[in-house]
Amino acid sequence: MIPEDVIEQVRDAADLVGIVGEHVELKRTGADFRGPCPFHGGTHRNFAVIPKKGMFYCFVCHEAGDVFTFFMKKLGMDYPTAVREVARRVGITIPERSGPTGPDPHEPLFECLAAAADWYARQLRDGAEAEVARRYLASRHLELETVLPLGLGYAPRGAAFQEAMQTLGLREPVLLEAGLLVRREDGALFPRFRGRLLFPIHDLRARVVGFGGRILGEGEPKYLNSPDTPIFHKGQLLYNLHTAKHAIRKAERAILVEGYFDVLRLALAGFEEVVAPLGTGLSAEQAQLVARYTSHVVLLYDPDEAGLRATFRAGDELLRHGLRVSVATLPEGEDPDTLVQKRQAVGLEALLKDALDVLEREIQILDRKGLFGTLPGRRRALDRLLPTIRAAKDPVTRELYITQVAEAAGVRRETLDNEIAELTAKRPAVSPSSTTAPSLALPSNREKDLLLLMLESEEWKSRVVEAVDPENFTFLPYRAVFDALLDGRPDALDGVSARALEQMQAEGLGGRSPDEVYDKAMDWFEGDRKTREITRIRRELTVAPEEEKARLVTEIQKLTAERNAVRPTWGVVEIARRRGASGT
Ligand code: GTP
Ligand code: MN
Repeated sequence: MIPEDVIEQVRDAADLVGIVGEHVELKRTGADFRGPCPFHGGTHRNFAVIPKKGMFYCFVCHEAGDVFTFFMKKLGMDYPTAVREVARRVGITIPERSGPTGPDPHEPLFECLAAAADWYARQLRDGAEAEVARRYLASRHLELETVLPLGLGYAPRGAAFQEAMQTLGLREPVLLEAGLLVRREDGALFPRFRGRLLFPIHDLRARVVGFGGRILGEGEPKYLNSPDTPIFHKGQLLYNLHTAKHAIRKAERAILVEGYFDVLRLALAGFEEVVAPLGTGLSAEQAQLVARYTSHVVLLYDPDEAGLRATFRAGDELLRHGLRVSVATLPEGEDPDTLVQKRQAVGLEALLKDALDVLEREIQILDRKGLFGTLPGRRRALDRLLPTIRAAKDPVTRELYITQVAEAAGVRRETLDNEIAELTAKRPAVSPSSTTAPSLALPSNREKDLLLLMLESEEWKSRVVEAVDPENFTFLPYRAVFDALLDGRPDALDGVSARALEQMQAEGLGGRSPDEVYDKAMDWFEGDRKTREITRIRRELTVAPEEEKARLVTEIQKLTAERNAVRPTWGVVEIARRRGASGT
């Protein structure tokens, strides 16, 4: 027999709309989905799928049930087979009926992490060295009694962790694979987390799979996460989702915040539908994960520049998964944690109520910057808004967005439709942060050289940052590395970008003189910059009034001449490239 709680987990994790959608053409109507009934063979949309309840129902033949019943009735499976089929799709392993066919190969890792989490929590409760952590929590107005049940822990500095794990009979190779120990260059093993407050990170089945560790006092990095392991992939997990998922269903929204402390504070204030990514931008997998439980996400990020950037990136990713996205805006200088401390749940609820749709919020910000007042500004505003329109997977949302942007930027809808079609032809709508996104350009050596310089020293880093913008990086993994170095958070990188950075760190400038590397790269970028400038003005032409057009054309000619002077081969290279592309 399959245990009841496992069945419950499988039902919870199942994508009912997706599964039914494989057999019935469903259309969204409000919170539900409708289609022709597959049971009595109806032609009208009398068959409803209600994701909130995990149920389907036909208003004509009254067939009804959950995801398991759907498989039973539609495909004639028996109950256990239906449960197994759904479990397989959501990646939950159910032991075979004919007795266990062998243990889960990852079981030792889970055991290891559970034992470690338990030990760390005990340290936080009554370890002598953990006094610093207890005091830190008190300074942030968090009671030990309230955080202990959430599994928080403390990792001491010395060798106590290894000794304790050894006493428990946990072997070093497993601890290493679990990311709890690291091997030093001289071969010695030592604990990964030392002198840190630990937030356990759980998978959907509420098993500890890793930790996020905050430094206490001075030190780098501020947060250290578990490395990727066979059971921990930071781009595929959301902090607190294992407890938030039920609340998200009930509240019909998920609140997405940036950090562990924000999650903690909101959950304690009664907003249990709160989750956070693990120190990285929101990935496609994480967006998909949220979409299993709700169709609406409220973004509540820090109100600074970095927070805004992260907000709109996450917003686009969520739109790509068909979600409705709102943005709640915190007062300057607050984060969700401090706001709830000052204004309690009521204050936060008011803020959430005032949340704007993500596109409206983007328009509001651009408008406040005065961008809609000038021609180059309008063009820039359009360029900022187009990706968001393009991201909107839901056709109704997209239509609405086109109308709103056309109105805000003072352009015709057809102009927007054309631009979107053009962009779509050029490249698919993927995010730069997504780990699964293909790299859209060939890596450029110049871009890489600049990153190598940034790694060379702080001085070189500031010089490069002064000289180039993130947009200069056309190879998306390099751009991600640039952003991460800019934010001082190289360890927040994931996937391809993380590997690229590692390689560059190992490689270095290879004996080349930094000055020379810099000058060469700058020449190259100067040419690029001119080219981009030309492209920009060409694009302004599309939103320019007639009387401005002649002036813009003259400007394009002037810039083209200048560009060809810095990079005389440009035209030739470009022609060759085009020839190559057309296969001659
Ligand atoms: P406090 O500064 O302790 O209040 O924590 P916070 O959660 O408010 O941190 P902050 O707003 O600086 O960052 C939000 C989240 O980004 C954190 O919870 C981490 O997940 C992540 N983060 C912050 N700094 C780092 C870092 O240096 N490395 C990594 N990997 N992640 C970080
Ligand atoms: Mn914060």
